[in-house]
Amino acid sequence: MKSKLTLQLGELFVGAGGLSLGLILADHPRAQFQPLFAIDNDKESLLSYQHNLEWLLKNTQKILPKMPVVINADIKKVNTLDLLGELQLQVNDLDLLVGGSPCQGFSSSNRGAEARKKSQQNSLAKIFLDKMGEIRPKMFLIENVQGVGWTKITSSMQLVMQKDSPVATKKPKNVREFLIQQSTSLGYTVWHGIINAKDFGVPQDRVRFILFGVRNDLINESTDISLESYLEKRPIATQTTVHDAISDLPRIGNGETWNGNDYHPSDNEYIKKMRRFMLNGDLSDHFTTNHSQYVLDRFKCIPQGGNWKSIKDKMENYSDIDNTHSNIYRRLVYKTPAHTISHYRKSMTIHPRQNRGLSMREACRLQSFPDWFRFQGKKDSQQQQLANAVPPLMASAIGLAIADFWLDHLSEIKKYSHE
Ligand SMILES: C[S@@+](CC[C@H](N)C(=O)[O-])C[C@H]1O[C@@H](n2cnc3c(N)ncnc32)[C@H](O)[C@@H]1O
Repeated sequence: MKSKLTLQLGELFVGAGGLSLGLILADHPRAQFQPLFAIDNDKESLLSYQHNLEWLLKNTQKILPKMPVVINADIKKVNTLDLLGELQLQVNDLDLLVGGSPCQGFSSSNRGAEARKKSQQNSLAKIFLDKMGEIRPKMFLIENVQGVGWTKITSSMQLVMQKDSPVATKKPKNVREFLIQQSTSLGYTVWHGIINAKDFGVPQDRVRFILFGVRNDLINESTDISLESYLEKRPIATQTTVHDAISDLPRIGNGETWNGNDYHPSDNEYIKKMRRFMLNGDLSDHFTTNHSQYVLDRFKCIPQGGNWKSIKDKMENYSDIDNTHSNIYRRLVYKTPAHTISHYRKSMTIHPRQNRGLSMREACRLQSFPDWFRFQGKKDSQQQQLANAVPPLMASAIGLAIADFWLDHLSEIKKYSHE
């Protein structure tokens, strides 16, 4: 069998691992990603990461030959040089560093204690670059929400200029400009773009910012490092709808867990992807939240595509009703991709046809997590981990693009494989 190039990867803010999982499963014909380390300070997210990577290792060793080192720590306290030593890597060796720092800080409301918390979270975007400056990977990828383009920088986001830095000294207007200027100053050439998960087969309208960079000593001035053409290389025939993604899941009621054994998955292309590697008809985590009767009565009044506005007169328990987010009490539309899936229980996301909240498995399907993927920890934590994640199928598209870029421009650097 022809050997594949292995791209070694490190991840900060790994969460439950949506981004890693997509990279690992990218299925490039000539390259594959092997995570070497993963860092997060949330124990339950790391339990999910570890549990599911171990599942992959056990069931598909070709795709994941070995487990990464998993580190449960505040990223600020991790000594990256010790970590590189433990992995027997030198500075400059790592192929790819990736990460998406918490994004709650990049939303519009900004007052008092909430604002301070958000400001601290925003500073984590800078910590990624500090760590990158120590590791000096060959390439890096940052994923975040579009809000980085309109969120002002925090006081900790002072540009640290390297000697001979080619970057202008203009003060960045927002976090996006800061990230671009600071990574350029660290000696990287960067490209950034806005991508939508629904363009990569994910049954969800989820728009995200990505920043990709390549270390300057590996390329020359004429190298085009844009991932745009690579991302457009494998167009999807049609968008995946909510119906494609969840209509095969058995009917259950409010507060119920499906325990049957008569589940028959659809054989559409999306469900085949979701059930890849599964050898039996198992179906897990198809459970719904037990909502009160008054909530179910509200659900009944909301049509597909509607939200809390259909029941405005009933929303007495919402103090600032006119500032309520449009995704609250939103009922999914069967024939289109879903709206952005946040914490589906807190947002009261409603099934398109049944008068109940979504099940965990339905929400996983809408985020393109495979059916064998089991989130770990308390239910609330599982739901938050899912909301935080990069949809793996979108991450796979990014992985394919990065692998194509590498093979076109950097493949002379190293030639080794594991197959
Ligand atoms: C947006 S989520 C990342 C999701 C991940 N990219 C995925 O696809 O599943 C951000 C993560 O940063 C972690 N985090 C927040 N503050 C941190 C810190 N100080 N050190 C390490 N991790 C932190 C959170 O626990 C959370 O899992």
